[in-house]
Amino acid sequence: MKGIILAGGAGSRLYPLTLVASKQLQPVYDKPMVYYPLTTLIESGIREFCLISTPHDLPRFKQLLGDGSAWGLTIEYREQPKPAGIAQAFLIAESFIGSDAVTLILGDNIFYGGDTFQRAFADFKSGATIFGYHVNDPERYGVVEFDAAGKAVSIEEKPKSPKSNYAVPGLYIFDNEVVAISKALKPSARGELEITAVNVEYLRRGTLRVHRLNRGFAWLDAGTSSSLHDASAYVQTIEKRAGIKIGCPEESAFRQGFVSLAQLDELVGKIPNCEYRDYLAAVVAEAKRLK
Ligand code: TTP
Repeated sequence: MKGIILAGGAGSRLYPLTLVASKQLQPVYDKPMVYYPLTTLIESGIREFCLISTPHDLPRFKQLLGDGSAWGLTIEYREQPKPAGIAQAFLIAESFIGSDAVTLILGDNIFYGGDTFQRAFADFKSGATIFGYHVNDPERYGVVEFDAAGKAVSIEEKPKSPKSNYAVPGLYIFDNEVVAISKALKPSARGELEITAVNVEYLRRGTLRVHRLNRGFAWLDAGTSSSLHDASAYVQTIEKRAGIKIGCPEESAFRQGFVSLAQLDELVGKIPNCEYRDYLAAVVAEAKRLK
C-alpha cells in the first residue's frame, strides 16, 4: 500500500499566516501540522510516501521531511501547479502508485483515538474504504447517507440540504482502479476533479465500504485561525494529561519497527535540546529498560 499526503491548496482562510508558509507547515501546538497525517499513516503501516504540494511550498516540505530515510520511510515529492481537485493527486502520483493500492490523506487532517484505521488497512483487499464522522456542519464536506441497515446509499459534495450529519474525512483507501477512475473524471462546476466523484463511482460499482468513526474518535480540521487554535489546544490538553505525544513520526516509526532502538537513539542525539527531544529520550530509555 502506497501513501499520498496531499498538502497543496491555497490556505486562503488562514491569510496572512499562509503568505510565506503553507497551511500544512503551520504549528499545531508543538509540531508542524503535516506531522499528524504522516504519523496517522505510519501507525497504519505505510512506509512509502509521495507528498504533493504547490511548486512554491514543496521545497519547504523537502527541507522538513527529507527523503524519509531517517525514519525508515521513503518520501517522494510531486508538484500540483494549481489546486485542481483532490482526485488530481492520483494522476500526479500515477508513476509512484504503479500497480499498488493507495491511501490518500489530506495534510491538514488531524485524527486521534482508537484503532479503526489500523483495522481498516489490515482488512483492505480491494475496492474503496472511506469513513464517516458525525459533525455539526456537514454542508462543508462530502456527506454520506446510510440506510436503516447502516449501508452507504449516497454521497454528495457540499450539499445545501445534507441527507445526514456524516461527513467524509480526508483519509481514503483505494485499490489501483482509482487511477483509471480519476482519469475518466470531468472537472466539476467549481473546476475540480472531485474526490467525492471517485467515491460515488466506487459506490456505483458496489465496492465502496464506509466505516463510521465512533464517538471516541477525534477528527480535527485546522483550516481557519480559530480551528487551528482549537486543534493546538486539543493536542496540548491530551499531551499534558497523558504524557504522550500525538503525531510524533519518530516514535511511531520506532513502534512500527521501521527504525531500530539504536537508530532512534542516534536520531535523538541529533535533536537540539528541547521538550521534543526530552520526550523521545524518555521513549528510548523506557524501551531500553524493557529490553
Ligand atoms: P481546502 O481546505 O478545501 O482548501 P485550501 O487548503 O486551499 O484552503 P482555503 O479554502 O482556506 O483556501 O482543502 C482541503 C485540503 O486539500 C487542504 O489540505 C489542501 C488540499 N488540497 C490540495 O492539496 N489540492 C487541491 O487541489 C485541493 C482542492 C485541496
